[in-house]
Amino acid sequence: MSTLTFPFLRATEQPEALAPKQSAEPRTLAPLPENVTAERVLEVEHYTNRLFRFRITRPASFRFRAGEFVMIGLRTETRPLLRAYSIASPPWDDTLEFYSIIAPNGPLTSRLCRIKPGDEVLLARKATGTLVLDALTPASRLFLISTGTGFAPFASLLREPETYSKFKQIIVTHTCREAAELRYSEDVVNALADDPLVGEAASLHVMRYASCTRGPCRHSGRITNLIQSGKAFSDMGIPAFNPATDRVMICGSLPFNRDMQTILLGAGFREGSNASPADFVIEKAFVG
Ligand code: A2P
Repeated sequence: MSTLTFPFLRATEQPEALAPKQSAEPRTLAPLPENVTAERVLEVEHYTNRLFRFRITRPASFRFRAGEFVMIGLRTETRPLLRAYSIASPPWDDTLEFYSIIAPNGPLTSRLCRIKPGDEVLLARKATGTLVLDALTPASRLFLISTGTGFAPFASLLREPETYSKFKQIIVTHTCREAAELRYSEDVVNALADDPLVGEAASLHVMRYASCTRGPCRHSGRITNLIQSGKAFSDMGIPAFNPATDRVMICGSLPFNRDMQTILLGAGFREGSNASPADFVIEKAFVG
């Protein structure tokens, strides 16, 4: 898939000098770029004061693979504000779900956190990414290891039937600062049992392991430490990493991704890509 270029894109959410203006004046919005469509918000759910999920309409022409990301955003008076977001809903769904952090003074997320059903959200026409089943060679266990909003692409993969046809066991881990920040992954995994397409397979083959680093939780600590000490595996009652049987997807902050990459390379795993499938793949959780 071709690389997307957006001249108005900044790579990460940087604090803005001025907070978005609130005005009673009718606003003239910047024209819509050709490579995006204007969609409508269908649903918004806030989990904490810095995390929320929302659903938007999906154009019939919009195609993606589970685990991919797309540019989404809002129109402002001067220019469209777009950022990369992993798609959290599965490819068969008629609507698109996203899971977002609210970055303090972030130009996009400080506006996006106020969206309501009926509001406009911009969606790029093309999705892309490396957290896709095609980038992994066949094996029996799939580990999906995330921190923070890095769980989002796994919410898509967990609801995708192909995940279950390719792997016998799916182990998803989610680590956040506090227990309240784990609710989205808990809700998604709990709802799998009632999913008409993957419910039966998910009930038998999905295991979720959650930990917190700054508050009370059933399991405490960074997932990197819990993996290296072997505690994550003994808590779940499963064998430790083995490149002969396991494939791994990683999504979180840059330092977390780097630490996980070091752990996996040290354990004999080879990094894969769309062009060259192998044992593990990595993607940064974009906005945050
Ligand atoms: P910690 O609280 O010890 O920093 P954030 O909300 O900042 O994105 O962090 C999400 C989770 O990722 C937190 O639990 C955080 O732990 C953890 N984390 C941050 N950096 C790393 C890293 N290098 N390795 C493992 N976990 C990390």
